[in-house]
Amino acid sequence: MPATVIVGLQWGDEGKGKTTDFLAEQVAMVVRYQGGDNAGHTVVTGDEVFKLHLVPSGVLYRHITSVIGNGVVVNPATLISELDMLAGRGIDVARVRVSRSAHVTMPYHVALDRAMERRLDGAKVGTTGRGIGPTYGDRAWRIGLRMEDLLDEAVLRERIGRALPDKNQLLASLGEAAFELDRLVDLGLGWGQRLRPHLDDTTWLVQDALRRGDHVLLEGAQGTLLDLDHGSYPYVTSSNPVAGGACTGGGIGPLQVDEVMGVMKAYATRVGSGPFPTELLDEIGRGIAARGHEVGTTTGRPRRVGWFDAVPLRYAVAVNSVSSIMLNKIDILSGLDPIRLCVAYDIDGRRVEHWPSSAIELARAQPVFEEFAGWSEPIHGVRSLADLPENARRYVTALEDHAGVPIVLVSVGPERTQTIERAWRPMRHRPAAPLA
Ligand code: IMP
Repeated sequence: MPATVIVGLQWGDEGKGKTTDFLAEQVAMVVRYQGGDNAGHTVVTGDEVFKLHLVPSGVLYRHITSVIGNGVVVNPATLISELDMLAGRGIDVARVRVSRSAHVTMPYHVALDRAMERRLDGAKVGTTGRGIGPTYGDRAWRIGLRMEDLLDEAVLRERIGRALPDKNQLLASLGEAAFELDRLVDLGLGWGQRLRPHLDDTTWLVQDALRRGDHVLLEGAQGTLLDLDHGSYPYVTSSNPVAGGACTGGGIGPLQVDEVMGVMKAYATRVGSGPFPTELLDEIGRGIAARGHEVGTTTGRPRRVGWFDAVPLRYAVAVNSVSSIMLNKIDILSGLDPIRLCVAYDIDGRRVEHWPSSAIELARAQPVFEEFAGWSEPIHGVRSLADLPENARRYVTALEDHAGVPIVLVSVGPERTQTIERAWRPMRHRPAAPLA
């Protein structure tokens, strides 16, 4: 059952795109299981740069089927523009399959997300403004639209007609313009016609692939600390990026997961509001942000930066049943001395080693740091752990001790080749395939 879940162990932006890219040659299928076009990854292949929000980056490989699972919320306008962009650059997009059950982000979801954030003002979540929360909200409220509803005018009209009066009333109360039913139905039908060839029962696609023994990568968006259940609510996204989300949103059972690879950066970043105990508001933080190009892919907002926090790491390893870790961007720490690692919190004079479930408690957490001597040598060319400067090795070992699972891949630069691979349970190997 060669299914691997790739999950972010921090607040998203851990470099999961690089992990997927690194493993892509070995896999036959990449499945997105949650989130929507709030996510963003930039894939660099040779001289070409691809910016994707919805289509899994596996699409850049000829041998990979890219699946948008039932747990994803799809803004068809974004999806169509990504498919057009990819096709225009010579990529075969017929291999992009979209679940018929995935929910549709409508223009009123986007308008509501933005208007409600404006109204929250000082208490805002800092969403990406892509309508993600309202779409998942309607799904739970059972007034959502699914991709298959776009294929039938009568169904589409009935579904939109059920939701729209309340949406328009709410929008009016927020000082926003109303949406017209007929225009939304026309828009939806157009999307449906265009996307019909991509719609599929993706659960069976994934199940058949696993039955054949194909290697399936289930790719989480965002990260564990933005999880609706496990993050610091309400400063979270509206889905479950944790590995369990791969089961509900990808159409597989828990015992079909073969490996959970957690991805984390050597420091922490966060976009949007919410407590961030190790945040650096000084020159050190600005330096890390500049060297690490820490700017939000979807919104262009500068990412908040902080020291690595081992308290949520231990939590993330537990709730995801992480079996191996990829550590990214350790090269960005070169030249910093000392390097700090948060190992516990002081909350109201108590030492706390467990990630608190309450954002209010977390906001009072003072980090308890351990200090590590830094290194000044550039490490972009290093390809084995033994060749890392001793102080960098000590830092990696400390992270591994806190995680309690092996760090099997260490990235020392943006290129695929700038990766240290340690001995680990090898995944089923497929012959290397060129980029499409
Ligand atoms: P939403 O997902 O747009 O509703 O935003 C909710 C929270 O998740 C906000 O703090 C966003 O900044 C954050 N968020 C959503 N997607 C990403 C991502 O891909 N990377 C990092 N943060 C994200």
